[in-house]
Amino acid sequence: MARLRLAFVAAAVVSAAFMSPSAVAQLRPDYYASICPNLETIVRGSVQQSMAKSPISAPAALRLFFHDCVVRGCDASIMIVNSNGDDEWRNSDNQSLKPDGFQTILNAKAAVDSDPQCRYKVSCADILALAAKESVYQSGGPNYQVELGRYDGRVSTRDIVVLPHANFNLDQLNAFFSGLGLSQTDMIALSGGHTLGAADCPFFQYRIGTDTTMDSSLAAQLRGTCSSNPNGFAFLDGSPVSFDNAFYRNLQGGRGLLGSDQVLYSDTRSRGTVDYYASNQGAFFGDFKAAMTKLGRVGVKTAATGEIRRDCRFPN
Ligand code: HEM
Repeated sequence: MARLRLAFVAAAVVSAAFMSPSAVAQLRPDYYASICPNLETIVRGSVQQSMAKSPISAPAALRLFFHDCVVRGCDASIMIVNSNGDDEWRNSDNQSLKPDGFQTILNAKAAVDSDPQCRYKVSCADILALAAKESVYQSGGPNYQVELGRYDGRVSTRDIVVLPHANFNLDQLNAFFSGLGLSQTDMIALSGGHTLGAADCPFFQYRIGTDTTMDSSLAAQLRGTCSSNPNGFAFLDGSPVSFDNAFYRNLQGGRGLLGSDQVLYSDTRSRGTVDYYASNQGAFFGDFKAAMTKLGRVGVKTAATGEIRRDCRFPN
């Protein structure tokens, strides 16, 4: 209980720090125009290669960006490896992050640093933001100009991690995202990130046969998936490597995998937005871009509060 209270206090302190307007002001798409003019092309090529090697690369990198930004801000603290094991990625809520996402960022960082002009001048936080965008774009999703100029954090600790859970209801989801300065519409658009990738059985198994909002044929299918294989998983929507609005159409049919996704349709306060995105992919793409940009502004570090990490895994 004391630990829970501490986590809430920590979350409140962190959310207050997230709102620093001066930190937001430094971000701009052309931040590296004279420092590393080919940055976007380099990251694009590297992400393309990572995606060719692993089908999980894109979903894993996109999810990594989310998990980074909501804890201590978008400062690549999720990448830090502490020798004493006390770091964000070792929190139980981060144990399902796939190594392929971390590798995608490390590869992109190596590619950037192999250009003498760029070497040690681009933050891991910015590479993560660019790689997340490329993961979306190269999966068929929207392209957008990523705001840049973040510095990397120096600190990562396991117990500060607070993330939304797959059994959250709409009020809990809204409370979490509003703590980051994001609206319900932002939250619904960002949940569309679940158009990519998969979830392991423990995240949805409890809904099978008990949650009446789940389509019965999906329930039968998932029962088979999870009972026959202890490491079973299912795709978050029917087209796990293509970024599209099928996620929202699935919700309309009760075919959402996670409770926190399906609730966006079953709760009438958010259903209208789900219907809108299900029928209008352009609207979803537009709102997703805007929400990703807002997410990318959370808790940004400056030269005074951060650094440009040489190795994304270790503070300098
Ligand atoms: C709204 C609250 C959210 C909850 C409760 C949530 C929860 C989850 C869970 C339980 C998984 C399955 C993990 C696994 O089994 O490996 C997952 C996967 C994923 N999430 Fe979320 N998530 C949320 C928001 C987001 C956001 C905002 C994004 C990005 C914009 C995102 C991107 C992803 C992606 C791409 C995957 C697939 C990862 C993979 O296949 O490796 N999620 N999420």
